[in-house]
Amino acid sequence: MLREEGVPPAVIRHSCVVNLVAMEFAKRCGADLGLVNAASLLHDIGRSRTHGIQHVAEGVRIARERGLPEDLVRCIGRHIAAGFTPEEAEGLGLPEGDYMPVTLEDKLVNLADNLVSDRSIKTLAQAAERMRSKGFELTAVRMLAMGEEIARLCGEGIDPILEKAGVREAAARCDRVP
Ligand SMILES: [Fe+2]
Repeated sequence: MLREEGVPPAVIRHSCVVNLVAMEFAKRCGADLGLVNAASLLHDIGRSRTHGIQHVAEGVRIARERGLPEDLVRCIGRHIAAGFTPEEAEGLGLPEGDYMPVTLEDKLVNLADNLVSDRSIKTLAQAAERMRSKGFELTAVRMLAMGEEIARLCGEGIDPILEKAGVREAAARCDRVP
């Protein structure tokens, strides 16, 4: 689907890494594995149209057009930043929609995407610092809260989970995705 829509190869490789990270959390906290698998791979499908913030709305539109299940469509729509309230979304010029992660699966995909910068996997603190350095204080705070919530549900910290699972090593395979 990503290729059919014309998503650039670099974004497909990024999505591969986000998928590896999201699945490590999903396995440990009883999330819907099929949903997290699909949503983490497809979250940036809207980047076939634009790399700007509107890619989230484009992703929702494409996923709906393709008749994808509504929980998957919502996950795609809720992956941006650490979520936006309706007022924030309006202020950013996004179409009316649903941009705040609500379900466990929404949160896993959102957090995994925030931890993965291009193809490099950051620690939770590094990812929060990156948000702060761009001036997104509220996003950093929400992201840390989401990370702590997921760590509680997984029974282990976000960083140790990724460290022990060897996800950074595994992510090198994503470089070979054609
Ligand atoms: Fe995205």
